[in-house]
Amino acid sequence: MCGIAGYVGHRNAAEVLIDCLKRLEYRGYDSVGIGVIGKKLSVFKDVGEIKDVREKLPEMHGNIGIGHTRWATHGKVSRENAHPHLSCDGKIALVHNGIIENFKTLKEELENKGHKFLSETDSEVIVHLIEEEYDGKIEEAVISAIKKIKGSYAIVVISQNEPEKIIAARKGSPLIIGVGDNENFVASDIPAFLKYTNRVIYLNDGEVCVIENNNVKVADDGGKEVLKEEKMVDWDIEDAEKSGYQHFMLKEIHEQPSTIYNALMGRVSEIEPDINLEDLESNIDEITIVACGTSFYAGMVGKYIIEKLASIPVFVELSSEYQYFGRKSGTVIAVTQSGETADTIGAIKEAKKYGCNTIAITNVAGSSITRMVDLSISTRCGPEIGVAATKTFTSQIAILFLIALKLGIKNSHLSNEELQRYVSSLRRLPLYLENVLEKEDEIIEIAKKLKDRKSIFFIGRGANYPLALEGALKLKEVSYIHAEGFAAGELKHGPFALLDEDTPVIAIVAKDSVHDKMLSNIGEIKARNAMVIAIADESDEEIDKYADYVIRFPSLPEFVSSIPIAVILQLLAYHVANLRGCSIDKPRNLAKSVTVE
Ligand code: F6R
Repeated sequence: MCGIAGYVGHRNAAEVLIDCLKRLEYRGYDSVGIGVIGKKLSVFKDVGEIKDVREKLPEMHGNIGIGHTRWATHGKVSRENAHPHLSCDGKIALVHNGIIENFKTLKEELENKGHKFLSETDSEVIVHLIEEEYDGKIEEAVISAIKKIKGSYAIVVISQNEPEKIIAARKGSPLIIGVGDNENFVASDIPAFLKYTNRVIYLNDGEVCVIENNNVKVADDGGKEVLKEEKMVDWDIEDAEKSGYQHFMLKEIHEQPSTIYNALMGRVSEIEPDINLEDLESNIDEITIVACGTSFYAGMVGKYIIEKLASIPVFVELSSEYQYFGRKSGTVIAVTQSGETADTIGAIKEAKKYGCNTIAITNVAGSSITRMVDLSISTRCGPEIGVAATKTFTSQIAILFLIALKLGIKNSHLSNEELQRYVSSLRRLPLYLENVLEKEDEIIEIAKKLKDRKSIFFIGRGANYPLALEGALKLKEVSYIHAEGFAAGELKHGPFALLDEDTPVIAIVAKDSVHDKMLSNIGEIKARNAMVIAIADESDEEIDKYADYVIRFPSLPEFVSSIPIAVILQLLAYHVANLRGCSIDKPRNLAKSVTVE
């Protein structure tokens, strides 16, 4: 996730763009760049947050320009990889948000035609493609270029030869036009330009737009004009940054159809029987996962998946314990959203001392952990602002899933047919997640039944056991209700002593080999008069006889359902906390990244 902006009008474009980008910093902040057409096109870009880059910004005169704030996905954090990217002749500049799946093939073709690339990004291929197609009309070149790219994009383009217009196009990544008086804006999100105008035009996928200071013309990808309605936005800036959601946590929960899509994009294909996961080696025969908190639970889910699909032993250790007591051999995978957690950094340092192969699954390119490990794999979620991890948790599971598939196919534990079955349901996950998010009202009704309880239990078996632990962690950190997760079979070994009619139990029930066992565990709970809320497969006809309330998740192959279940647990925690009036985005005593041991 990156932030992009464009401006054409009567003001100093560089100043307006910096202002717009500041409002988009929540979408990414590892590097910044702007391109302005004055007498000619000039570009300034650098690594760092906007406030730092702004100080170095030279005088840039001109009333038309584009800008970008980056969150690295392809290529490290560096000045070369920052946007805008330029065509070989330096006359066309482009900013991009999204992921181009076929960039390697396109890059090769363009290099063969003599194009010189300066960055490692997928984005740079688009500007060279546009240059290749350019024949005097920039909008036509953009339309021809986007026909050749596969993947998701929001792009904004300017050309020195046509200094009065900006071309914008989108597919799968957001782009909104801000309509002003004798000036117009375009950006990834409304807060970017809300200070200047609240009149907006929403672009749809496949649309291409020519923006001049007093004219906005939208066409479909065949070049046919589309009439668009202008809308008024009545949010204030703070609301707008949360896209109208009350809290960042809720916004981030709702982003999961697209963050899961991003995590998978370019890495799975329904045609090729392989997984393309950076340079992950396939000769791994033993894995230790180190992580803390929510990331630790993602690691535990990963253990079930990797052991089943690739038959490779996986040990999951808390980073704070691993440093001093862990087994230092084989491949060590650090799962860390921030890449800055001191305990996990300490664990990787120890693993490296013993010569282990080290991998990080992280959401922050350029974070400390990425500079220490042999390979880092990005979860590509964009910044997570709510202290409670949500979208990064499900993307960590998605990446561990891909590791399992990659290793399983390489060591022949998994057949091509099984791989394809998993790949096609993973690819459909964004759609399933949309359906789960539509259950929010139902989940709010359940949240009302939980909001005044003193203690709540979560239970599950198999990969649903770590989800029970995560459900409990999420609830306690945002709602301050005491919550505990258990492997369902363990209640009778002690925790039953705490169970009474005032302790609701959230039971995660899959249609798997332990379905009957889960039903009998629920029976035991009901015998103690406790309320049971089941999170169950939509095809489960028996569960209604056992549970007091049921929230359904889509029927999916084993492990794929972990992701929709996690989303239900997150919504439940969020709404309980919201009904209790808690400080959801900044729970008391907690920090987003824990940089002390
Ligand atoms: C809980 C949460 C924490 C983190 C933990 C590790 O919602 O966010 O438990 O998961 O502090 O942080 P990272 O993943 O940044 O290493």
